[in-house]
Amino acid sequence: MIPTLEWLPEGVNFLDQTKLPLEETYVLATDYKQVASVIRDMITRGAMAIGVSGAMGVAIGIHRSTATSIPALNQEVAEISAHLAATRPTAVNLFWGIDRVRTLYNSLAAGNTPIPEIKAAVVALAREMYDEDIANCRQLGANGASLMPQKGTVLTHCNAGALAACGYGSALGVIRAAIERGHQIDVFADETRPYLQGARLTAWELMKDNIPTTVLCDNMSAHLMKQGRIQAVIVGADRIAANGDTANKIGTYAVSILAKEHRIPFYVAAPWATLDLATSHGDKIPIEQRDPRELTHLNGRQITPHGVAIENPAFDVTPAKYITAIITERGVLRAPFTESIAAMASQSQIPALAGVS
Ligand code: MRU
Repeated sequence: MIPTLEWLPEGVNFLDQTKLPLEETYVLATDYKQVASVIRDMITRGAMAIGVSGAMGVAIGIHRSTATSIPALNQEVAEISAHLAATRPTAVNLFWGIDRVRTLYNSLAAGNTPIPEIKAAVVALAREMYDEDIANCRQLGANGASLMPQKGTVLTHCNAGALAACGYGSALGVIRAAIERGHQIDVFADETRPYLQGARLTAWELMKDNIPTTVLCDNMSAHLMKQGRIQAVIVGADRIAANGDTANKIGTYAVSILAKEHRIPFYVAAPWATLDLATSHGDKIPIEQRDPRELTHLNGRQITPHGVAIENPAFDVTPAKYITAIITERGVLRAPFTESIAAMASQSQIPALAGVS
């Protein structure tokens, strides 16, 4: 399995995704500020990986703290959480991950648990969340496998694979699960300008698993859909509002409209932690704006005229009306999403995140 990130005695070890596919190197983060830099600089990326990294960031911050009293540690935990939460705004999993470890911390601190016990407990939880993430991906893969064509080509946008999680992946997890069940699937991977997660990362991890993969420019899918060469689209998600509107990598919205026009099913695959019930609809999802250099430069060389204006939103929101189904580890949600999401939330033991971001 691809080791996206790993808790080690000396720190959290991250596969450096900025160097893929040409180099497989690791970055060891030994304190919470380094974990925050890893997230901000996209050494690790993808909503699920960011969520577990946020949890591990809080855990390592508490673990390395030299505070000798609960009030002093409380103060540090607030600073650690705020620092990690300021890294990237769109993937709600980040806030969910931070919040989960912080909630455990708060309850142990309120009970005056000895600090060494608190440290052991928060590290154990962050490590558990890593295992849980892989189990969730496998379960949502199993839930969505039958929605994939028995034989055909599936288009995906960005990287919602093992690299965007602790392993296996969400959208690519569903594809993997379908293939494990005997489906014959070829993948079209949109290159995903400007950061090229599809061309660099999705192609790399699918080729490692010998899954037939073809990279497309982002502007090619309409042509291929018209020719009948795409049977389904599946993408991941960074945040799903209570009405099913889904934020994912910039360009996803356009693909969803194309899929609808060509009567091709458009699936979203995401763990329940990506559901943000506190956000009523997609217009309220914060969209990260990234450095203009991602557009103006290619491999360090300027490709646009000096001084030209640049827009670089990293995500867009696909309205729920373009989504055929949302595949989670708890089951498959269908329209009307406001009702199906609320019904699934009320059955769940762990409530979806409410209002930390
Ligand atoms: O900017 P990134 O690379 O973190 O964006 C990742 C995506 O948009 C993925 O499609 C999304 O996180 C879903 S996979 C967990």
